[in-house]
Amino acid sequence: MSELMSVAEELDAADALAAVRERFVLDDVTYLDGNSLGALPAHVPDRVADVVRRQWGELRIRSWDESGWWTAPERIGDRIAPLVGAAPGQIVVGDSTSVNVFKAVVAAVRMAGEDGPGRDEILVDASTFPTDGYVAESAARLTGCAVRAVTPAEVPAALGERTAAVLLNHADYRTGRLHDLPGLTAAVHAAGAYAVWDLCHSAGALPVGLDEHGVDLAVGCTYKYLNGGPGSPAFLYVRRDLQDRFDSPLPGWNSHAEPFGMRPGYAPASGAVRGRVGTPDILSMLALEASLDVWDGVSVEAVRAKSLALTDFFLRCVGEYVPDGRVASMTPDAHAERASQVALRCDDAGDVMRRLIGRGVVGDFRAPDVLRFGFTPLYVGFADVERAARLLAEVLAEGPAPAV
Ligand SMILES: Cc1ncc(COP(=O)(O)O)c(C=O)c1O
Repeated sequence: MSELMSVAEELDAADALAAVRERFVLDDVTYLDGNSLGALPAHVPDRVADVVRRQWGELRIRSWDESGWWTAPERIGDRIAPLVGAAPGQIVVGDSTSVNVFKAVVAAVRMAGEDGPGRDEILVDASTFPTDGYVAESAARLTGCAVRAVTPAEVPAALGERTAAVLLNHADYRTGRLHDLPGLTAAVHAAGAYAVWDLCHSAGALPVGLDEHGVDLAVGCTYKYLNGGPGSPAFLYVRRDLQDRFDSPLPGWNSHAEPFGMRPGYAPASGAVRGRVGTPDILSMLALEASLDVWDGVSVEAVRAKSLALTDFFLRCVGEYVPDGRVASMTPDAHAERASQVALRCDDAGDVMRRLIGRGVVGDFRAPDVLRFGFTPLYVGFADVERAARLLAEVLAEGPAPAV
């Protein structure tokens, strides 16, 4: 056994979260793609079968009340709340992240407009996941604003009297860089603007502290580190003291103060419910609700500690196994700047990842040259990490695939 294998064994033996892996359906594959699609919690299929067979099949329409379907968006929001540092009553689950980005950015610009004239600029993270940029651009056109793309580091200098809203990613989807949510939120507030955070790559991976840091609005997906399943609904956080001012650009009947009043005019409900639009996607939503049970007895702080240990160990193993210069890490070394993934750049990344997957180590490839490895502390262990780095080194040692 190599030295790194023994280190992995010791780290796994001391890992307080090791037993949580049993709560998931996993096999011999080393799965480092939970930052794209989280693994399936083992109890979810039976729970979903019950929703389909009994709640839908037998209770039918009664389930809107009797099985709690109607209140699921807020109820599940409250389950997610402690994982992102929010008190109850501020998160609603539903729609995709893209749709929630739209609601949040337009609502933020509308609030800025109420505060006073002249705020006609939206700052957007220049390295953002594309959907946020597309949606912000459209939101800007609808609200008479202009979008300015800046890196998160440039945000403080770019803020000014014209800034209405700032849309930022807590963690960069490509590099795994963690941005300074407390500091940037404070800077946005000092400029009189509103901060909208995309938490897709941090929710369930590390503490976010939404309430503590006074974040205005936030969105995130639930199919990565929250393991809700493919296309599971996203969430929207609206800070409690802003809820009465949250003017949704998508005012559906589900966020009406009296949804069954069937009134021709819209009157918003109070509370996080204002973020709802239409009929919730119950099957997917209740699969998510079931999947959140894996967090019973697990703190997000413990997850963060293990996440950093996993990424540290991966970087160490890559450093020892992979020949110098073959890959370059894009992920910051500093813990304060690292989320729960490691991104390695190499020219033939697409081909390398294809061959690595062929050997049973699943990460992903982001064009044009990035190998992405996500570390979900709930089910990834240190032996997985060592194996992934060792097989990656083997694949890299084979050299680039011959041109055809
Ligand atoms: C950072 C980030 N924002 C937004 C999205 C898009 O989410 P959705 O497909 O739920 O709209 C993703 C998807 O991976 C993402 O990583």
